This record gives sequence, structure tokens and C-alpha cells, in this order.
Amino acid sequence: MTDLSGPMQLIDRFGRTVDYLRISITDRCDFRCVYCMAEEMTFLPRAQILTLEEIFTIGKAFTELGTKKIRITGGEPLVRKGALGLLENLGQIESLTELVITTNGSQLETMAADLKKAGVKRINISLDTLDADKFKAITRTGDVQQVLRGIQAAIAVGFERIKINAVILKDRNHQEVCELVQYAVDNGIDISFIEEMPLGVVEQHDRSEAYYSSDLIKRDLALKFSLVATPEKTGGPSNYFKVVGTQTRVGFISPHSDNFCSTCNRVRLTVEGRLLLCLGNEHSVDLKKVLRANPGNMTILKQTIVEAMLIKPEKHEFNIHEQPVILRYMNMTGG
Ligand code: GTP
Ligand code: 5AD
Ligand code: SF4
Repeated sequence: MTDLSGPMQLIDRFGRTVDYLRISITDRCDFRCVYCMAEEMTFLPRAQILTLEEIFTIGKAFTELGTKKIRITGGEPLVRKGALGLLENLGQIESLTELVITTNGSQLETMAADLKKAGVKRINISLDTLDADKFKAITRTGDVQQVLRGIQAAIAVGFERIKINAVILKDRNHQEVCELVQYAVDNGIDISFIEEMPLGVVEQHDRSEAYYSSDLIKRDLALKFSLVATPEKTGGPSNYFKVVGTQTRVGFISPHSDNFCSTCNRVRLTVEGRLLLCLGNEHSVDLKKVLRANPGNMTILKQTIVEAMLIKPEKHEFNIHEQPVILRYMNMTGG
């Protein structure tokens, strides 16, 4: 048995310290992005998902094991009733230095101020295009104006940092990378470009054909902007560049062209209570089962988490040229 009495750190077999937990608090979403979900989705019944109290308990256990950063994701996290209360409770854990969220922005117009009050430091907002028709085509149900108003509300509230996430697909939105960076520059915020990952079967496009690498995006951006590499890290997989003469950082998340697994510092909690050790593998431990079999027993919960580090895989094996091996969609893990 591991001694859990002193200060703890989670360390895996490859010597990587895990101090970042991403929690998906719902699989539901008001959008249906083509790279994230099928058009017709069946969402999980309530009994199968963790309660907010259970999520808090697991989050607390992680902070007692050295976790410094928790990111709340979905689906769309802000559509879950009680999300704010959970954030407030997590925000009060002293050893947690970063409470952050990833959202599609649809609820920010009304919720931004409360998120700040709850202790959320930084927000990442998905925005793949500024064009209303393209936005509708990519998200199937979304309204770009609603998201843009949400972003303005978040800027007005004054978070430490706001970052746009744009998944770039060839011929869908790759032509717009300069406009997206200009939007970030004009608003004094950051942006990350993401290479699509093959999670779940999508019907709307061929992932291999839609692949647009970070290097191509950099080439396109160079026509309009001067980008200088910075050593800055946020604890996530982005490699950042500063847009010369502006406040804006441009990040590249390149799972295919620049594997970042050797510095992986994170694990994920799915809404079903599965502790997923890697986004691109199925290695997991059922924390819901442990929690429900041993109510109130923090020691067993922490012990299970410590032992789970032994099965954290070395790296993902994504291959966009083949049928996806991982059948779970991104909405189960929030990325
Ligand atoms: P910060 O750096 O904290 O701002 O966040 P982030 O960019 O890591 O997180 P965000 O939730 O905004 O996710 C952006 C993209 O990074 C999503 O597409 C995630 O799926 C992807 N991502 C985050 N962590 C991992 C990871 O461990 N492996 C892979 N393959 N992708 C990841
Ligand atoms: N590949 C890459 N990124 C994805 N996201 C959703 N699905 C995928 C995918 N298949 C992004 C969203 C959001 C972040 C959490 O993950 O756009 O910004
Ligand atoms: Fe919803 Fe985000 Fe998935 Fe789009 S990518 S369907 S906004 S969870």
C-alpha cells in the first residue's frame, strides 16, 4: 500500500508528474460539431453519470495528490445545471492554483460574470470560424453571433486569459486562419489551432482529406503576421508563438505533426466516472464504482488514483488515415 499520509505527487511509469485533471461534467451539448459528434446522439442517462458531489470529491482527492490545475469541460459544461456551484466549491480548494474551463461560448453572455466570481481564472472558447454560414455548417446547430457576444462578455468581465480554440479542417475553414488571428489580435486574446483527432466515427468528412497541418497554418499566417516562438507553456499541449507587436499568442496543438506525449501531465475524468489515462487510448479505471462501493472513504479513492498511474500509456496512436480505433466521441472527455 502507498503511504498517503504525507504530501503526494502522482508520477507515472515514464517519470511524468501528473498535476492536471480535466473533468468532463456532461456529455451533452447544444452544438453538434461535425468532428466531435454524430448528428443523432444518444446521451447518457442520469443514473450513469457522476453527481456534482461525486465530481467534487474526486477533484478534492486529486488536489490532495498534488493536482494544481483542474479544467472543467463537457460536452458543453455550462449546460449542466449546478455547474456554477461545482466551480464555486472547487474554487475554494486552496491548493488548486488554476481552475479553468473550456466552453463553446453559447452560455457566456449570461454566465461570464458568475464564472469569474466562482474563481475561474482562464477560459478557452471554441470558435472555428467567424462566418455565420460556415459556423452553422460546422456546429450543425450553433449561432456564431451568440458565441461572439459570449466572448465579448468574457472579455468585459476580465479573465486572466481568454483563448480561442479553432479546429482547422481543409476546405472548411483553413482559408480563414488569418481572419481568426486578426480577431484575436483585435480583441487582445489568444488563439490555438488544433489538428483534428480521430475520436469516434464522423460521417460529414474524411478525416484524412480534411487534415490541415500546423505547418501549413504557420505558412499561411506568415503572409500576414510575424510570429516569434516563445517558450511559454500553460500546462497544455499548445506550442506558443507571439504575434509581433501585439498581446496575442498563437498556439499550435499538433497531435499528428508534433507529438507532445512525452511531456503529458494530465488525466481525464469522464462524466461516467471513468478515470481515463490518455485521450488516445482506452486505459481507464472506474472511479464511480470505487466511490459508490466505499462512500466517504477518501483513502481508498486516493489509493485507486495513485495505482491508476501505473497504466498511463506512453503515447497516443492516432492515425487519421485509418478508421478510428477509439470509438468514444470527444464529448465524453472534453478533449
Ligand atoms: P490550456 O493550455 O490550459 O489553455 O488548455 P488546452 O489548450 O490544453 O485545453 P483545451 O481544453 O482548450 O483543449 C484544446 C485542445 O487540446 C483540444 O482539442 C484537446 O483535445 C487537446 N488536448 C488537450 N490535452 C490533450 C492531450 O493530452 N492529448 C491530446 N491528443 N490532445 C489534447
Ligand atoms: N479533434 C480535435 N479537437 C476537437 N475538439 C472536439 N473534437 C475534436 C477532435 N475530434 C475540440 C473542440 C474544443 C476542444 C475541447 O476540443 O473544438 O475546442
Ligand atoms: Fe459541443 Fe464542443 Fe463537441 Fe462542438 S466540440 S459539439 S461545442 S462539445
